[in-house]
Amino acid sequence: MQAIEIDETAKTLRPCEMAEPEYGERDVLIDVVAAGINRADVMQRQGLYPNPHGGPNVPGLEVSGRIAAVGRAVHQWKVGDEVCALLSGGGYAEKVAVDAGHVLPVPAGVPLEDAAALPEVMCTVYSNVFMTANLRPGEWLLVHGGGSGIGTAAIQVARAFNAHVAVTAGSQEKLDAVRPLGVELAINYRTDDFVERMRDRTGDGADVILDVVGAKYLARNVEALAPSGRLVVIGLLGGRKAELDLNKLMGKRAAVIGTTLRARPDQEKASIVAEVTAEVWPLIESGRVAPTIHARLPLDEAARGQQMLEDSTSVGKVLLTLGS
Ligand SMILES: NC(=O)c1ccc[n+]([C@@H]2O[C@H](COP(=O)([O-])OP(=O)(O)OC[C@H]3O[C@@H](n4cnc5c(N)ncnc54)[C@H](OP(=O)(O)O)[C@@H]3O)[C@@H](O)[C@H]2O)c1
Repeated sequence: MQAIEIDETAKTLRPCEMAEPEYGERDVLIDVVAAGINRADVMQRQGLYPNPHGGPNVPGLEVSGRIAAVGRAVHQWKVGDEVCALLSGGGYAEKVAVDAGHVLPVPAGVPLEDAAALPEVMCTVYSNVFMTANLRPGEWLLVHGGGSGIGTAAIQVARAFNAHVAVTAGSQEKLDAVRPLGVELAINYRTDDFVERMRDRTGDGADVILDVVGAKYLARNVEALAPSGRLVVIGLLGGRKAELDLNKLMGKRAAVIGTTLRARPDQEKASIVAEVTAEVWPLIESGRVAPTIHARLPLDEAARGQQMLEDSTSVGKVLLTLGS
């Protein structure tokens, strides 16, 4: 099959031919129609984020497509089903094998190709903002990187659950692009202080912060939290080590949590996939939440797609398509 692999020396992507993946008795084999590009793929290419499960160095954490074969112990899917799936790697390829518990149906009303934009962002957002940080209706969520794939999903899902949403982004264009998704407070981090803006608007600050910046924002994130606030760090675009004022944390009875989806055990991922299918898919099917797609490119333009994320010019998701 055709795939895109990482040249580890040059830190570039190159098309290659490789054997089709083998699938186990609990796996399905998918004929890929589209693959989502994630920031983690860019970091993997740069040598900063190896696949924790090993295997060929083919990036790609999510795909959509049709089931081509099922393992002996798989009963919930059959050949021909149109699905999308959460992967721990290998999505930039014509075929991928994945645990049947990490597969989701294509939500009604979403084109098969566009469904590749959903698994990674929806599982990340739902598991962190709802299952871990327990965002409740009426609370304020602050999303850093509001124009990211993650950000555009977080805004919509939080609004659909009747929370208030504030976002930061690095340009007015990005803020204007995401405002219609349900943003009530749009903060340009290059010109404004998000701590002040959050306090001015909400009084207390953010109940939950979904953070992709890490070290650079840690102190200010704790400042921006409301009493009993929860800061969930899911990205380290601004570094990994910082000082934490525990006194401030204690005074607010606040929590700082860090997670990664990719490294979770299979069973945990399957539980997240099941909850996302039950709780988020109906919101997509009713039209309250939709994939935000910046660009669709052919598989062999994967390098150009990754460059869009690296340059932070994309708003929402960039997809690689393999035809139907
Ligand atoms: N832990 C997990 O399980 C998990 C799962 C999925 C994703 N993530 C993380 O979530 C983040 C977003 O992923 P994605 O695929 O949605 O990426 P993406 O679409 O490429 O978005 C990244 C965003 O980060 C902003 N950004 C880049 N560098 C920044 C910096 N130094 N300071 C502040 N903002 C910066 C950019 O927005 P501006 O132009 O506005 O700066 C950009 O929109 C990544 O860090 C990724 O690793 C984590």
